[in-house]
Amino acid sequence: MRTLALLIASLISGALLPAADAKEVPQNLRDFYNAVRKKGSCSNQLATGFYATDTGPNTFSYCSDHLSTQNVIYIQGKKGALADMDIDCDGAQGGPADDGRCSIGRSPDYQGTTAFQDVVASYAAGIKDLNSYVHPYVVFGNTGSRKGWRTFDPTRYGVRPLSVMAVVCDGGDKLFYGVWGDTNGDDGDFPMVGEVSLALATACNGDGMTGDNGYSRTDVLYLAFVGDEAVPGAKGANWTAVGFDDFERSIEGLGDKLVEGIVSAAARADAVRWGLVWLAALLAGFWAL
Ligand SMILES: *[C@@H]1O[C@H](CO)[C@@H](O)[C@H](O)[C@H]1NC(C)=O
Repeated sequence: MRTLALLIASLISGALLPAADAKEVPQNLRDFYNAVRKKGSCSNQLATGFYATDTGPNTFSYCSDHLSTQNVIYIQGKKGALADMDIDCDGAQGGPADDGRCSIGRSPDYQGTTAFQDVVASYAAGIKDLNSYVHPYVVFGNTGSRKGWRTFDPTRYGVRPLSVMAVVCDGGDKLFYGVWGDTNGDDGDFPMVGEVSLALATACNGDGMTGDNGYSRTDVLYLAFVGDEAVPGAKGANWTAVGFDDFERSIEGLGDKLVEGIVSAAARADAVRWGLVWLAALLAGFWAL
C-alpha cells in the first residue's frame, strides 16, 4: 500500500515537473553567489564601463576577484547587482524547437551567425551554427571598434570559445549549464552585458521570454571557467540535440565537475583555521621537546 502511494506520488510529481530540469544550486556555488552579492562590487576589474540596460548605469564589470583561486571570471555591477538576461536570437533558425519567439525581426539586433560559428562547424557534428531555441549559449565578452567603445576579450585570460559556463538564475535558486557561444558587438547604442540564448532564458524564466522580451532583474550570475578542461569539444556535447534538455544534459557532467572546483569562502576560512591549529600543535610539539 505504501509503495503504491509512493509510486502515485512520484508519478504526479514527475508530471508536474517543469520542462526544463533545473538543478539544485550546490552549497558551494550558493555560498559563492551570496558572498559576491554581499560584497557589493568586485575589487578587481578586467574591464568596466558596461551597461545591463540601455538606461544605465554603466558600472558593470568583468571581474577577476576569484580568477587566481577559483579559475572563474564573472560579471558584476555595484551594490550587489550581477547581470540581467537579455535574449540573443543569433545563429541558426528553424528546427523542431522553433516556436517563433526568436524569429528574425523580433530580435532588434539579429545576426545570422554566432561568434564561434566556424568552431561549431569545424566540429563536423552535423550542425553549422548554434540555435537559440536549442543551445543554452551565453553572450560573454564585448567587441567593437567604435571610438571609446568598451571591449573585453575573455580569451586573453584563458576562457576558450564554446567552453562550459555556469548560470545561476531565478534569484539564485536555479543552476543551468551553457556554453560561451557569442559576444556583444558594437551595433547597439551601448556596450551591454547579460545576454543568453532563448533556450537558456526560457529554462530560467519560462516561456514568456522572446527575442524582444528578456529578464531585467540584475541578479543572474554568469561564471566562465578558464582553461581547456572547460571545453566539451566535438564529442563532449550533444550538438545535434533537438531541444534544450538534451543538450544541457550532455554537458552536465562537465559542468558539475567545474562547479565542484569552486571552494566557498567559508570553506577556505575553515581550511586556514585548521591549518593554523595544526601549525600550533606542531610548534607546541617542538617546544615540548
Ligand atoms: C542527442 O539528442 C537527441 C535528441 O535531442 C537524441 O536523439 C540523440 O540520441 C542524442 N545523442 C547522443 C549522442 O546522446
